[in-house]
Amino acid sequence: MTRTHVVALGGSLLRPEEAEKRRQWLGQLRQLIVHVEGNGGKLGIVVGGGLPAREGIELAKNIISDSDKLDEVGIAATRLNATVLQQIFLDIGCDVAPSIPSTTEEASSLISKHSIVVMGGTTPGHTTDAVAIALARDCGARNCIIATNVDYVYDKDPRKYEEAKPMFDISIDELAEITGTEPLLPGQSAVVDPVAVGWAKSASIDIAVLDGRDISLLDSALEGKEFSGTLIRSV
Ligand code: UTP
Repeated sequence: MTRTHVVALGGSLLRPEEAEKRRQWLGQLRQLIVHVEGNGGKLGIVVGGGLPAREGIELAKNIISDSDKLDEVGIAATRLNATVLQQIFLDIGCDVAPSIPSTTEEASSLISKHSIVVMGGTTPGHTTDAVAIALARDCGARNCIIATNVDYVYDKDPRKYEEAKPMFDISIDELAEITGTEPLLPGQSAVVDPVAVGWAKSASIDIAVLDGRDISLLDSALEGKEFSGTLIRSV
């Protein structure tokens, strides 16, 4: 049976500071996709909103404060980023779904017909981390990779605490203690969205958090090889 992988790709990964790094990262990601497809694998990619989401939400916040409306602005940005990747993969003839699904059920059905499906956010109240967990659940994957811009989950925020320690192998309950369980505000970030943590626990989905700036880590995790990052066990 073909294995389906699901990856949440943090939106910040698409735009490294230096323009040359952007081209390099997108090129390496594209190679990885070709490789997955060549090996007969299936991949659902859920892309975050990154800079356009933050900018759009900040702009709208001048006038509106309703969090669902601000979330809709964020969702539009995730779909923009998803379209960028979808077109980049289509350009080299990959078997990518021609539409950007707006629900995980739709994405799951598209994955049965195509090698690659790229999507962004769905509904207000959570981030694309949670969407990736829901997609993993809906397409029968037992785990979900969260590729972000940090190397590990730390026991406390490493930007604030020098003594923060990286965690290598933890349970979903330990992760919930670190992230808390309160939903994030529109545009707010956390190493893993607390809503995603709750959904992963309910659906018994294991999570791998790794540094997506290094595509070789993503490659290793997809191949089932050892990778540097944090493994979070739900069962
Ligand atoms: P992201 O998934 O990009 O949030 O959603 P993030 O965790 O900050 O990820 P990075 O920075 O891209 O890695 C951006 C915003 O879009 C809205 C939320 O407001 C979120 O903060 N959103 C996204 C939703 O409301 N629902 C979704 O399904 C996805």
